[in-house]
Amino acid sequence: MTVTGKNGRWLQLAEEVAKCTRCRLAEGRRSVVFGMGNPEAGLMFVGEGPGEQEDLQGLPFVGRSGQLLDRLMLEEMGITRDSCTIANVVKCRPPGNRDPLPDEIEACHPYLEAQLELVNPKVVVTLGNFATKSLLGTTEGISRLRGRTYPYRSGHLVPTFHPSAALRGGGEVVAQMRADFVRAKEALGKRP
Ligand code: URA
Ligand code: SF4
Repeated sequence: MTVTGKNGRWLQLAEEVAKCTRCRLAEGRRSVVFGMGNPEAGLMFVGEGPGEQEDLQGLPFVGRSGQLLDRLMLEEMGITRDSCTIANVVKCRPPGNRDPLPDEIEACHPYLEAQLELVNPKVVVTLGNFATKSLLGTTEGISRLRGRTYPYRSGHLVPTFHPSAALRGGGEVVAQMRADFVRAKEALGKRP
């Protein structure tokens, strides 16, 4: 098979990651959840790691958090998953949905880097603390970081809450996420 363009390279990278055993999360996984979407699009969402549904289906954000993500994308940005890529900080499910550990995040980081390098998105939306801290290289919490747009690589980064925080936290958190999604849409319209 000839591998051309971003789509081809995305698939090639997915095949490589599917065999990965670089960290202990390989032991309990059913699927490696590499990510999905359209690598030609200028927008990437980065979550934390697969949950139960994602591990079963091999796709990112297909459970309740994913339903909220899809809704906010559509209602605040007017887009569906075909207009973005979705990836996670770790590609394999932490057992019992525990937080990913620092050495697991580090082991998996080259894959996220490769995804970012390949897609070269104009806008990255980080969902929650793990993605935001990993990409901005800070220890500051998401509540303090969200609410503005940061320069990132050759584009912009918009941090927001993880959808699971909105599912737990209710209306106020959802309202803040909506405002951040509007911010991401605006950043897509900006000059690089
Ligand atoms: N939560 C995440 O962070 N990522 C997923 O893919 C699903 C739930
Ligand atoms: Fe490899 Fe990442 Fe899965 Fe760990 S979480 S086994 S580094 S793909």
